[in-house]
Amino acid sequence: MSSDKDFIAVLDFGSQYSQLIARRIRECSVYSELFPPTISAQELKKLNPKGIILSGGPSSVYDEDAPKIDPEILNIGIPILGICYGMQLISHQLGGQVEQGQKHEYGRTKIKFEANNLLFKNVTNEINVWMSHGDEVKVLPEGFFSLAVTENEKLASVYSPERNIYAVQFHPEVAHTEQGQIIIRNFVFDICKAKPTWSMTTFIQDSISQIKEMVGNQKVICALSGGVDSSAAAVLVHKAIGDNLTCFYVDTGLMRKNENKDIKRIFDEQFHLNVKFIDARERFLTKLEGVADPELKRKIIGEEFIRTFEDAIKGMGDFDWLVQGTLYPDVIESAVSVGGKAVRIKSHHNVAGLPKDMKFKLLEPFRNLFKDEVRNLALKLGLPEEIVYRHPFPGPGLAIRIVGEISRQKLRILRDADAIVREEIFNAGLYRDVWQAFAILLSIKSVGVMGDRRTYSYPIVLRIVSSEDAMTADWSRVPYDLLDKISRRIVNEVEEVNRVVYDISSKPPATIEWE
Ligand code: XMP
Repeated sequence: MSSDKDFIAVLDFGSQYSQLIARRIRECSVYSELFPPTISAQELKKLNPKGIILSGGPSSVYDEDAPKIDPEILNIGIPILGICYGMQLISHQLGGQVEQGQKHEYGRTKIKFEANNLLFKNVTNEINVWMSHGDEVKVLPEGFFSLAVTENEKLASVYSPERNIYAVQFHPEVAHTEQGQIIIRNFVFDICKAKPTWSMTTFIQDSISQIKEMVGNQKVICALSGGVDSSAAAVLVHKAIGDNLTCFYVDTGLMRKNENKDIKRIFDEQFHLNVKFIDARERFLTKLEGVADPELKRKIIGEEFIRTFEDAIKGMGDFDWLVQGTLYPDVIESAVSVGGKAVRIKSHHNVAGLPKDMKFKLLEPFRNLFKDEVRNLALKLGLPEEIVYRHPFPGPGLAIRIVGEISRQKLRILRDADAIVREEIFNAGLYRDVWQAFAILLSIKSVGVMGDRRTYSYPIVLRIVSSEDAMTADWSRVPYDLLDKISRRIVNEVEEVNRVVYDISSKPPATIEWE
C-alpha cells in the first residue's frame, strides 16, 4: 500500500460486503484497503488514512468473541463511518445501548432524514435502503444525534459532531440502497476531504513497484490458464520483473476445445511471454477417473497442479514465488476475509485447496479486486479483447462440470457440447452480454428416439448467466430460437447426447457452477 496517496481504511468485521465498500471508494478514485479489526489506534495513525470505515459483520456485540476495536481509534479525530455492525459497535463501545433484536431485519426498508447533514448532501429526503441486521441501537451514546429513522421510527443513522463519527444501520455500498454511492462520495470527499488520486493506472504502477520490492531478484512461476485473471497477473508481473518470470501452461485434460492452440498463438507468438507447455493429461485423468465428489475433485486437481509444477521446474533452478490471479470473490467464497468471519461456501482450488506443504510464496496482485476491475486493468496492460472479455473458467476446469464420476468419454462429450454453446453465443453477438455460457454434463441417462431408434444417452445442461461480479447471478433470458439452435446442434453433432435442458436458477440459492 502506498502511504503517499489519500486513502480510506476499512476495518473488516467479516461482512460479505466489506470489499464492496473498498471497491465503492475506489470508484470515487480514492484508494481503499481492508484491515483486521485488531489493528491498534497507533498503527492506524501511522498509516495516516483520511477516513476510517467500520464494516458490517455477522456478530452481535454481545457475542462472547465479538470483535471490538481499540477504543483509542474512536478518539484519534480521523472521520469515522460505522456501517451496520460498525454502528452497533461504536454505540456499544461509547456507552450507548444496543438491543438484541428478536427479529432480523433483512431487505429493503424506507428511511427518512431528520436533520441536514453532509453525509446525506444531495440525497432525497426519503430513500429505500438495504438492511441486514439482528441487533439495533436503542439508546444513543452521549454527544450523538439521530440523522435518519426507518418507517418504524428505528434509528437508521447517527452522528457525533464532536467526535466526527457517523454511522448508518443500512448498507450504502450495496446496489439496492438508493443513492448509496452519493453517501459514500459525501463521506470520502466532503467529510474526509480525500483527494481523488487513485486510478487503474496508478494501481498498476504501485503494484509493479510493490512486486519489484517483494520479489527482488527471486524467480517467479505463473500458472497461465488463459483466463483474464492469470493472463493479466502474468503480464503485470512480467512488467515488474521481466525474465525472472516463467509461465507454465498445464494441459490438464480438463480444458475446453482449442484452448491450447489459442494460448500458444496469443502468449507465445503475440505477447512473447516465456511460456512452457506441459502435457499433464495422463496424470490428471488417471487420478480423477471415477472420482465423483466435488470437493475431492478440487483437492486432487489443486494438489496435482502443484506437483506438476514441481516436476516441471526440477532442474530449472529455484523458484520462490507463485503468481495467481485470485480475485476477491474467490477469497470471500473460501471464507478467508481479513476479519476471518465469513462463512465458507465452496473451496475454490486457487485459494483453499492448495497442499499444505507447498513450497512457493503466493503473489496475488488482484486479491482485493473484482472481475470487472481486472478487465479494466487488463485493457490498460494492452491485452487483446479476446482475453480481456473471455468468460471465467474455473481452475478445476471441466472436472466440476461433469456432475458425478469423471471419465475420458464424458470429457470428450462435454468438450464438444461446450464448444457449440460458446460458438452460438458468440455468433449471436451475446458473448459480452452474458457473464458465462457453458455446458454441464449429468451422469444420468434418459431415453430418446433418433431415426426410429431408441437412444439411452446423457443430458447436457445449458448454463447461461448474467452477473456483475459472480457474487449473485441470474439466468439469462436468451432468445428461444437461440436455445433451440444450440439444443439441435448438440443433439445432432455430439454423440451420446439426446437431451438438452436449460438451467433457470439464480444465485443464490443456486451457484453458477453445479459443483
Ligand atoms: P459459483 O459456482 O461459486 O462460481 O457461483 C462463481 C464464479 O467462480 C467460478 N468458480 C471457480 N473458479 N476455481 C476457480 O478458479 C473453482 O473451483 C471455481 N468454482 C467456481 C465460476 O465459474 C464463477 O465464475
